[in-house]
Amino acid sequence: MPAVVLVGAQWGDEGKGKATDLLGSRVDYVVKFNGGNNAGHTVVIGDEKYALHLLPSGILSPGVVPVIGNGVVVDIDVLFEELDALNSRGVDTSRLLVSSQAHVIAGYHRTLDKVTERFLGKRRIGTTGRGIGPAYADKINRVGLRIADLFDPKILAEKVEGSLDQKNHLLVKVYNRRAVDVDETVDELLAHAERLRPMVANTPLVLNQALDDHKTVLFEAGQATMLDVDHGTYPFVTSSSATAGGAVTGSGIGPTRVDSVIGVIKAYTTRVGEGPFPTELFDANGEYLLKTGGEYGVTTGRARRCGWYDSVIARYSSRINGLTDLVVTKLDVLTGMEKVPVCVAYDVDGTRYDEMPDDQTAFHHAKPIYEELPGWWEDISGARTVEDLPKNAQSYLARLEELSGCRISAVGVGPRRDEIIPVHDLIHGR
Ligand code: GDP
Ligand code: IMO
Ligand code: MG
Repeated sequence: MPAVVLVGAQWGDEGKGKATDLLGSRVDYVVKFNGGNNAGHTVVIGDEKYALHLLPSGILSPGVVPVIGNGVVVDIDVLFEELDALNSRGVDTSRLLVSSQAHVIAGYHRTLDKVTERFLGKRRIGTTGRGIGPAYADKINRVGLRIADLFDPKILAEKVEGSLDQKNHLLVKVYNRRAVDVDETVDELLAHAERLRPMVANTPLVLNQALDDHKTVLFEAGQATMLDVDHGTYPFVTSSSATAGGAVTGSGIGPTRVDSVIGVIKAYTTRVGEGPFPTELFDANGEYLLKTGGEYGVTTGRARRCGWYDSVIARYSSRINGLTDLVVTKLDVLTGMEKVPVCVAYDVDGTRYDEMPDDQTAFHHAKPIYEELPGWWEDISGARTVEDLPKNAQSYLARLEELSGCRISAVGVGPRRDEIIPVHDLIHGR
């Protein structure tokens, strides 16, 4: 102990990478427990900027053991590309452990992701096209490939054949594409097996033993609460459990071992891809947040949709994840606004909702009810205590805390490692 879970509280890109980095030197293990290379984390250390997709951002902290848990879907080409890129910049990646039970993204998963999105047309999800959904679909459908299968070529060939049996009919007859060759796929997957072998471990056992030995283990979510397959804005979600519960199933520790749950939340809101977004802005303010916040996806380069802070979502995230701490990021981006609106509730066809509506139609119809808070003009990137902030920025944070159902334990005032205001210790017992 302690086991700390860190999740995104909105629609992703809240600055989880930077928050993880903040805990860096105090953590012994960092575990990615869900998703795959659909994630994109940016960490700025000095003048160096690192963009990570599949690897947990904790890989940048010297001495930490990074772990890819059983709940992750692994694109092996991407894994080695990222490791090579980090090695060439002098980052030691030799401690990485990969769960033997994690699932593998094969070429046909990527193909299907792109083809189905095209086929959906106007109803598309706006996925990252990395094969995430099809790989998880195979896992649930019990025709997936696991890392351990790569070390038994006969079993692997049988599984690929079984998985492609139906898919090739679909590709050829429905989507008008060429069939995928079983042997070629198997050869592609086996090409990396030997390099992977020394990293593969019984990670649930390793992590439970680490907790027994009083090590500090950080479970770092990809994506976010509103993209969670159960609790997000289904069907406009990713295909994994991105909420705190996913940390348990996706890594093989019991729920009784979790000590604290940190939610990372922007001082405003963004979303990439399709789906409802009540506080989305289509005016100059939205443009301002996009430009000032540099809101372009790390994975696909897409411009992120921008809007005001939504405290209905913050309260929902606090509840669904059992948050103990909030890390509010990008407060600096709001500098220079005359007024900063915060959504306190929704109006759904004339009815006020103080909490997240339980049905998707209501959420699609939700109109934000705003409270306007006064803005500030001063540069806040040098603030290191809450008292260093202009009074209006302090009041903004105090109101967010009141509305969001969880205490604020740190505040980001810039992208760099040191541009943060610590408020409460983020590693603590219950
Ligand atoms: P993640 O997916 O949650 O790890 O977040 P991303 O890395 O996709 O997006 C967050 C972006 O915000 C990155 O470019 C970070 O460098 C940047 N960032 C994080 N915290 C802050 C902050 O407090 N202020 C500013 N201006 N940028 C921040
Ligand atoms: P991080 O970890 C923001 C979105 C996609 C799409 C939906 C489904 O950087 O916060 P998928 O490829 O997962 O099947 O796409 O989920 N999405 C993200 N949006 N940040 C992410 O990760 C995301 N990962 C997936 O844009 O709407
Ligand atoms: Mg991101």
